[in-house]
Formats: sequence, C-alpha cells, structure tokens
Amino acid sequence: MKSVSDLGDLRGKRVLIRCDFNVPLDGTTITDDGRIRAALPTLTQLKDAGAKVVVMAHLGRPKGKVDPTYSLAPAAARLGELLGTEVKLAGDVVGPGAQALVAGLQDGEIALLENVRYEPAEESKVDAEREELAAKYAALGDVFVSDGFGVVHRKQASVYDVAKLLPNAAGQLVAKEVDVLKKLTEHAVSPYVVVLGGAKVADKLAVIDNLLKVADTLIIGGGMAYTFLKGKGYEIGASLLDAEKIDACVGYLEQATAAGKQILLPVDVRVVEDFDIKARTSTPVTIVDADAIPADQEGADIGPASEALFADAILGAATIFWNGPMGVAEIPSLAEGTNAVAKALAASDGFSVVGGGDSAAAVRNLGFADEQFGHISTGGGASLEYLEGKVLPGLAVLEGEN
Ligand code: 3PG
Ligand code: MG
Repeated sequence: MKSVSDLGDLRGKRVLIRCDFNVPLDGTTITDDGRIRAALPTLTQLKDAGAKVVVMAHLGRPKGKVDPTYSLAPAAARLGELLGTEVKLAGDVVGPGAQALVAGLQDGEIALLENVRYEPAEESKVDAEREELAAKYAALGDVFVSDGFGVVHRKQASVYDVAKLLPNAAGQLVAKEVDVLKKLTEHAVSPYVVVLGGAKVADKLAVIDNLLKVADTLIIGGGMAYTFLKGKGYEIGASLLDAEKIDACVGYLEQATAAGKQILLPVDVRVVEDFDIKARTSTPVTIVDADAIPADQEGADIGPASEALFADAILGAATIFWNGPMGVAEIPSLAEGTNAVAKALAASDGFSVVGGGDSAAAVRNLGFADEQFGHISTGGGASLEYLEGKVLPGLAVLEGEN
C-alpha cells in the first residue's frame, strides 16, 4: 500500500478520496461524529498540499435511489465546521452538479459528492455495472486515496473498482487501522484478551474461530452468550437463543479447553421480563446466577460478579480487543456490564482496542474519551472481517498495480 506522500506533488491536482461518513443521525443531527473526525488528518494533509479534494462517501442504505433522508448535507456541514472552511456538497453523485463543482475547485478546496449509494451501480454485484460507474468517479480525479476504513470490506464501485483506474494510495486512517489490526493478529502481545458481545452469535463464530488461534482468553457477553450458556446445559428462560449454533458453541468451548485457552462466560446475569429500546426503559431488573434464569425472564446484561471476573482478566492483559455490548446498553439500567468492560479497558495498561462503529458510539455515549483507549476503530464489520482472516477487497486492491 502506498501512502499519500508517495503520490508526489499534489498541488493543483484533483484528489478523489473515499471516506466513511456513515454516522448515526437523529433526524439531521449527527449523534456521533467520530468517523468525520477520523477523516481530518488526511483531508488536512491534502488541503495543505494544495490539492483540489473531491470526497466520496455513503450514508445508510438508500439502495440505489435518491432519498433526501440519506443526504450527506449534515456531514458536509459538520466537516466544514471541523475544518474551519466551507465544504460544498454536490447536488448529485457524478452528474452535472458534481462535474461543475469539481471543475470550479480552487487549490486547497474541498467538495463532497452526494451519497454514492444513490447510484444503483455502486453496490451492484455485476462487475461491468460497477466498473462503468467507477469510470465516472475516476473522471473527477487525477489520483485516488482510500480512507473510508469502515467500508473496505465492501466490493463497491467507490471503494474497489475506482482504485484500479487511478494511481492510488491509502490515507492515514486506513494505514493506522491496518497497523492496529496487525497488532491484534500477526504481532499480538500476550496475554491477549478478546471481549465479544452483541446480540447475534452467528455473526461472531468466524471471528471466534480465528481469534482462538491467537488470543489467550476469550470473554463472551451480550445476547450471544446465552447460546453458549444453553450449550453448557443451563436453562436460559426467555433469553436470546440461536438453537442452530449450540453445537458450534459447545465445539469452541471444547476446543479452547483442549488448547489450554480460556473462554469466560457470564457467571451471573441481569434479567428482566421485558424492555423497550425506544423508550429506554425496562421492567424491574433482577440479578441471578447464570444457571438460574427464571423461565419467564430474559438475560439483558451481565451481572456484577461477571463484571468483576471480566475486568480482572482485562486488567491482566497486554492486548485487548473488544467488540459488542454486554447487554442492552441503550437502556441505562442495562448498560452496567458494558460500562464495566469499557472502564476496565480504559484503566488497562495494555494496548486496548474498541472495535466498531456501534461499540465506538456506545463508549462515547457512556462518557468515555477516545484518549482513554489505545485505539477506537471506525469499522465494525471491516475490522471483524479482517480478524476473521478474510481478504478485504478495498485493501487488497491497494496492493495491486496502480
Ligand atoms: C458501516 O457503518 O458498517 C460502514 O459504513 C459500512 O456500511 P454498510 O454496512 O452499510 O456497508
Ligand atoms: Mg455495517
């Protein structure tokens, strides 16, 4: 992968850059601007080099249709505020609006194209369709910089195909994220603890499989833990269960034991009869042992004994990777476990990494500062796929000819 400085003198050149501005919105208000902030180092570098900067980004999943709900207008405004300069938003993606805006750019100015996912070919599975759109993107730049780390696992026109058409380089964010991922795989320092949470166990099996090879301890919480607890023969009441994955979970528990590794599961849980994410409320919360979940209750957070057990393992680690909440962290009474894990990571002397857009937003919304962690990744899906050992198209393409 080349870096921006390898692209030579960029003064007066049109630099087409892919960023990930897929930020959480409440109406048109950005509730976590972490991904926009993460793009600033490279954008500032390009601006200072006197480049004409053309930014491509997506927001949500408008599925190939122009839909104002997914306009990048809030991102353009926020980026302008952070940079202290106007960022003009094109009225379209590659149409006359975008072309005119790019043609009028002065050295050091920044323009943002509209949501690339307004274009039906952006996410097409047909190579020729994506390539045709990529050629239109490429006509708006002289070189391409890939800095949208959160989307490098997608084989999409603005991420993958366009990189083949122009001299390309990785931006500072992509370079930094890849460096961190290497510290979690090839160069992980022991003791290495991985903390996984989130609702769906099926989403995490591939990463468990791969990380069991390098990690010493795997901590499992969140909704996905109940399928493991069921596999241990516990009654889990109305808790989340993926019955088809019980055997796989038991297999990993056995594999870990055989390899002399540890998988830590919750020893106690916070249970409720029901909760309402929108209203951020639940029925009364009770703490029970993990093998004593009442039939009419569901586990919705880990309990205090589990918090202590998990924190102890985290505090003894040299490397920690965490992805996924321990409970229904949107609801304050069910965010205790997630909070405890975040606290332990923040207090750790080891290299701590919070993986993923949702986990990153969760720790920020709980009041933690980015500086309290070794690294907060801007890519959930992208970092998990890397940790699964998969080839990420948006990274592989940067290793190619251009
Ligand atoms: C994300 O938020 O996960 C990235 O921006 C990629 O978006 P996607 O999952 O809709 O492809
Ligand atoms: Mg995603």
